[in-house]
Amino acid sequence: MTPAIEVVDLHKSYGSFEAVRGVSFAVEPGEIFGLLGPNGAGKTTTVEILEGYRDRSAGEVRVLGRDPQQRDRHLQERVGIVLQSCGFYRRVTVREAVTHFAKVYPSPRDPEETIALVGLLEKANAQTKDLSGGQRRRLDLALALIGDPDLVFLDEPTTGFDPAARRTAWGVVRRLKELGKTVLLTTHYLDEAQELADRVAIVKDGRIVAEGPPDSLGPGSSRYRVSYISQGRRVEHQTDDPTELLHRLTSDAVARGERLEGLEVTRPTLEEVYLELTREADAA
Ligand SMILES: Nc1ncnc2c1ncn2[C@@H]1O[C@H](COP(=O)(O)OP(=O)(O)OP(=O)(O)O)[C@@H](O)[C@H]1O
Ligand SMILES: [Mg+2]
Repeated sequence: MTPAIEVVDLHKSYGSFEAVRGVSFAVEPGEIFGLLGPNGAGKTTTVEILEGYRDRSAGEVRVLGRDPQQRDRHLQERVGIVLQSCGFYRRVTVREAVTHFAKVYPSPRDPEETIALVGLLEKANAQTKDLSGGQRRRLDLALALIGDPDLVFLDEPTTGFDPAARRTAWGVVRRLKELGKTVLLTTHYLDEAQELADRVAIVKDGRIVAEGPPDSLGPGSSRYRVSYISQGRRVEHQTDDPTELLHRLTSDAVARGERLEGLEVTRPTLEEVYLELTREADAA
């Protein structure tokens, strides 16, 4: 199967500054792939190269089998985009904007249904200048979906959403997956990545430092943490074999006639792995 997106040794420089320094990954059709990483890591640069908004400095890029730098019409019709920041004619209404963009595509979704999908029906007649930040972002999402694309780029699609709106947007993304669409997503919400992405890549200083399913990420991810409270302090052990460790700890405690208070077995969350892997970048 041809990947929906294929990136090999991508580089992008702005003048003497190299924002992307040899990024490679592939996204299979029907997959949701998340790009994570600190501010300035190179996520938007990478995504915008894939969208055909920016030219690359070096490397190979294929989107639905084509080179996005050629900006061919066929590709534009099959791809939907939520830009990280999106200016928009202030005086058009939500309905006018969505209906207008529907006409650009050969087989668009129904505008009303798309407005409903992102939860903007009540604001369909509002001018975009009168929308709240989160509502404007929902309009961006509607505009990305209106062409019924096979591949959707979502650059921080839920930034500024209230918790309920984020859940709604997650539902929309899951629905896209059910329809067999491919999604490339960037986000700073690690719960969002954990919730939605089949695989994620963590980008730091223009390079991928870790990649895999959110649950399996990071060098320490096979390790479990077993902790309990002893003499008022939480004691923590790390292990690859919690069964054996628990057996030892609990039999020792029982032999002493004690109980292990507050006993917990946990694994590092995606957030902990992320912070560990990107720590230097934060300090810099
Ligand atoms: N047009 C530009 N000219 C010069 N430098 C740029 C340009 N666009 C981005 N950069 C720089 O490239 C680096 C990567 O930026 P990019 O927007 O790709 O980061 P990002 O990972 O999307 O960050 P964020 O999480 O803040 O959105 C940053 O250091 C940024 O300042
Ligand atoms: Mg960005």
